[in-house]
Amino acid sequence: NQRENLDENAKDQQLEQFRVDNDGKKMTTNQGLKVSNDEDSLKAGIRGPTIMEDFHFREKITHFDHERIPERVVHARGFAAHGEFELYESMTDYTRASFLQDPKKKTPVFVRFSTVVGSLGSMDTARDVRGFATKFYTDEGNYDLVGNNIPVFFIQDAIKFPDLIHAVKPEPHNEMPQAASAHDTFWDFVANNQEIAHMIMWHMSDRAIPRSFRMMEGFGVHAFRFVNDKGKSRFVKFHWKPVLGVHSLVWDEAQIIAGKDPDFQRRDLWESIEIGDYPEYELGVQMLEPEDEFKFDFDILDATKLWPEEIVPVKKIGKMTLNRNVDNVFAETEQVAFHPGNVVPGIDFTNDPLLQGRLFSYLDTQLIRLGGPNFSEIPINRPVCPFHNNQRNGFSRQTINVGRVSYHKNSLANNTPSTSTAREGGFVHYEEKVEGRITRARSKSFDNHFSQARLFWNSMSPPEKQHIIDAFSFEVGKVKSKSVRQQVVDMFVRVDKAMATTVADNIGVNRPKGEQINVTLSSPALSQANTIKVPQT
Ligand code: HEM
Repeated sequence: NQRENLDENAKDQQLEQFRVDNDGKKMTTNQGLKVSNDEDSLKAGIRGPTIMEDFHFREKITHFDHERIPERVVHARGFAAHGEFELYESMTDYTRASFLQDPKKKTPVFVRFSTVVGSLGSMDTARDVRGFATKFYTDEGNYDLVGNNIPVFFIQDAIKFPDLIHAVKPEPHNEMPQAASAHDTFWDFVANNQEIAHMIMWHMSDRAIPRSFRMMEGFGVHAFRFVNDKGKSRFVKFHWKPVLGVHSLVWDEAQIIAGKDPDFQRRDLWESIEIGDYPEYELGVQMLEPEDEFKFDFDILDATKLWPEEIVPVKKIGKMTLNRNVDNVFAETEQVAFHPGNVVPGIDFTNDPLLQGRLFSYLDTQLIRLGGPNFSEIPINRPVCPFHNNQRNGFSRQTINVGRVSYHKNSLANNTPSTSTAREGGFVHYEEKVEGRITRARSKSFDNHFSQARLFWNSMSPPEKQHIIDAFSFEVGKVKSKSVRQQVVDMFVRVDKAMATTVADNIGVNRPKGEQINVTLSSPALSQANTIKVPQT
C-alpha cells in the first residue's frame, strides 16, 4: 500500500525528480538544442540590426520578460523551510486525522513565515504580524495550518478584510509608508472599527517585533473542529510553541537592523538550518467540548478573542523540526499555495465568519497569482499521496491523464475514479445543525471589544507596558490628522486611562475624557487574576 509506505522523506523524494542541476552541463535552448554563442545576438552585418530569425535570443528574452508573477496581496514577503512533524501521543480519541494517530509517526512539512503588510522587498523587522503557515504532506492529502504569530485578529467578519488591508497597506496616492502602521489610514481604520482593540494591543506590544522566526509562537486563531472516528466533534484551537521560547527585539534594535540588514530574519532562519541548529516548535491544542460552547464571557467563534490558557489548557501533542533549506526560493517559497480549506478527515471548520470568508479567498487569489487552475501540480504543492479526479486542461496542465472518460458518473470506465466512504478515508463534512433566518448582521455575542484588550494590558510587566506606550506614541504620533490621533486616544482610554493619557500627552492631543472599562468576567480564574497568561518575552 503506497500510503502506508509514506515517511518523513516522501516529499523530498517527490521533489527530487524535479530538481535540475546545471553543474558541468552543456547549455541548451528549451528545446534541448545545444547553444553555440550566448553573448551576441544574430545580426544582419557585424554592426547591423538583430534579425527575427534569432530564436535563441527571442526565447531567452521572452522568458525573462515573463519572469515576474504577482506578489501575494498580503504576506508578500516570506521565507520558508522544509521539515518534519512528529506526534507525541495518539489523538485517536479526538480526531481521525491519520497524521495524528500513531506516536512517532513523522509527516513531512513545509513552513512559510512572513510579514503581512510589506511588499516582497521590504524589511524583515517591521512592526507587523508574522504569518506562520504550515503545509503537512499527510498520507490523506495536504493539511494546511495557515496561522499567525498573534492569537487574535483585527476583524471579526471576512467581508471587512479588503477594508482592513486597504487601510493598512501603503496609502494609494503616494505608496507610503512601505511597511509600517505609522500612518493616517491605518489609525483611522482602527478608531472606526473598534473590534480591532485587542489585536492592536498585541500589535503595539513586543510580539509584533519578534527576534527571530525561531522564537515566535504560531496560532491557528480560529476555532476549528476535531472529529473522531465515532463522529464526535470538539472545538479546537491550534498553537505552535517555539522550543527556544518567545523573544522580541526592542524598537530601536528593530529600526537599526531594518537599515543594516533588511534580511535579518530570513538570514537567521537560513543560517541556523545550515549549521544544523534546527528550529523546533511544539504543536499544542486547546480543546472544548461542544456543551461548553456558551460557557464563556465571549463568543468562542469570535476571532478577536483568545481562549485563556488558564481555563482551556494547551495540550502539547507533537513537535515540528525545520531541517532543510529550500533549493530555490521562487520554485518553493513563492509558488507554495497555502489554504485554510486544505483539511483532512478529522479536522473541520466552524461558523467563525472570518474563517468562512478565508475558505473562499485563498483559492481565488491563487488562481490569479499562480496563473490558472493547475497550480496544485507545481512540485511544492503536490500531495505525496496519490491524487485522481476528473479535472482536465487549463493553462500549463502537467498531468497526462489517459483514457477518454473524465466525468462522473459513467459506465465506460466503471465509475473510476470512484468516491470513498468515510470508512474508506473519504472526507465527510461534519453534520452541524444550523438554524436561523438569513440575515446580514453581527451576533451580539461578538460585541465585547475591550475586555480581553484590558486583560492583555493588565498581563504585561512594567517594561512591556512602557514598550506599548512608546509604540503607540511613535506610531500614532506619525499620523498627520489631529482628529484621528484624538479618536485613537479616546478609544484606548477604555483599555487603560493612564496609558491613553500618557500617549495623548506624547502626541499632542487632548487627554481623553472617557474611562477604562471594568473587566467583569464570570470565569473565576480570570476575574480573580484580572490577567491572562502571556508567555514572557
Ligand atoms: C495569506 C486572505 C485572514 C494568515 C493570505 C492571502 C490572502 C489572504 C488572499 C494571500 C495568499 C496567496 O497569495 O497565496 C485572507 C483573508 C482573511 C485572512 C480574506 C480574513 C478574512 C487571515 C488570518 C490569518 C491569516 C486570520 C491567520 C490566522 C495568512 C498567512 C498567509 C496569508 C500566514 C501567508 C501564507 C503564505 O505564507 O503563503 N491571506 N487572510 N490570514 N494569510 Fe490570510
